[in-house]
Amino acid sequence: MVKRRLLIAAATFIAAAACSVASAPVPAPEVARFDWQLPRGFPIPLTEPDNIQTPTKFALGRRLFYDRRLSANGTQSCGDCHQQSHAFSDGKTVAVGSTGQQHTRNAMTLTNAGYNASYTWDSTKVRSLAQQALVPMFNTHPIELGVAGHEKEIVARFRSDDALFRAAFPGQRRPVSIRNIARALAAFERALISGNSPYDRLVYGDDSNAISPAAWRGMRLFFSKRAGCSECHQGFNFSSESRYAGHSKTKPVLVRNGVTEGAFRVPTLRNVELTAPYMHDGSIATIDDVIQRYVVARKLSLDASDRADLAEFLRSLTDRDFVTDARFAAP
Ligand code: HEC
Ligand code: HEC
Repeated sequence: MVKRRLLIAAATFIAAAACSVASAPVPAPEVARFDWQLPRGFPIPLTEPDNIQTPTKFALGRRLFYDRRLSANGTQSCGDCHQQSHAFSDGKTVAVGSTGQQHTRNAMTLTNAGYNASYTWDSTKVRSLAQQALVPMFNTHPIELGVAGHEKEIVARFRSDDALFRAAFPGQRRPVSIRNIARALAAFERALISGNSPYDRLVYGDDSNAISPAAWRGMRLFFSKRAGCSECHQGFNFSSESRYAGHSKTKPVLVRNGVTEGAFRVPTLRNVELTAPYMHDGSIATIDDVIQRYVVARKLSLDASDRADLAEFLRSLTDRDFVTDARFAAP
């Protein structure tokens, strides 16, 4: 019954979103195709029909992502809470907004975010990156970027970038808008694809020396019944089931891992070495502590060397190219 009600709520929400999309100006046909530079074995991310992926939109989104003019008081950008060196998280227990207010949640990694079926730790309703971008902009509990009530002023700040918006949204009369800011941000985030870790070199590159013997043992454990990690951290992204071009019908799911209280989306474990502290509330400091907490909560029989192997495997999911890739850095 509860599930049914949730489904209806979600369906209404999506229908409302679809309506607003229908009234938006139709974008001009795509001229230049986007070069995703996909890692081996990775699918093409899903794009919304009203927000096709183009190089100009990506470039604008990248600029906006790092632009502090997007916060009302000019002190914070998306990139302040989502830092490339931390795989686009921020290293803090919980995030702190532009006016100093504390968030209740840990800033999420944006690693492969384009594949997620829903956004934020525990919402099943935020279904697209463009929709999600409005959350930190307009959130008032707590204030993050503090855009609410300052929309006109903030849009006016970006009029000087009119040419970039025109290039990204050809054929629109007034391309500088909150909606297009959100779309461009989504285009940047969708391209934040990470798949060149030692694990990937082993699995997709057939390089059997890519990971250490300890990481091999940890990998077997990770996928075993005994540890059970892959029951939830699944597929190429070690997360809830992914969406991508040609596979879009995935339903968002929230699950309890037993370690924390409440139900949450299963986060990716890619680059997990760089995204400490862990969980929705940033309550666990290290990978070793996370594993120890799973052992207790899920009554796993893993001895000290098993736990060390598992940690070693999680560290083999770190993609150093991703956190140094100039395409994703501040322009
Ligand atoms: C004050 C710090 C802060 C700022 C600024 C911020 N974020 Fe976040 N971000 C967070 C936190 C905290 C979460 C988790 C929110 C939740 O679960 O409720 C999050 C979650 C996300 C997610 C969800 C990822 C996923 O896999 O579900 C995306 C995408 C995202 N942010 C993009 C952005 C963009 C784009 C901007 C700029 C418009 C931005 N963020 C600005 C802290 C921040
Ligand atoms: C029943 C599903 C489930 C199983 C089994 C599971 N996880 Fe998780 N995992 C989750 C969920 C849900 C979260 C997010 C919980 C939260 O934020 O409070 C999570 C979070 C994590 C995190 C923190 C990620 C971050 O970005 O903060 C790590 C690390 C992790 N799990 C590793 C493991 C390992 C290792 C195993 C096997 C021992 C495992 N998980 C088994 C569902 C699961």
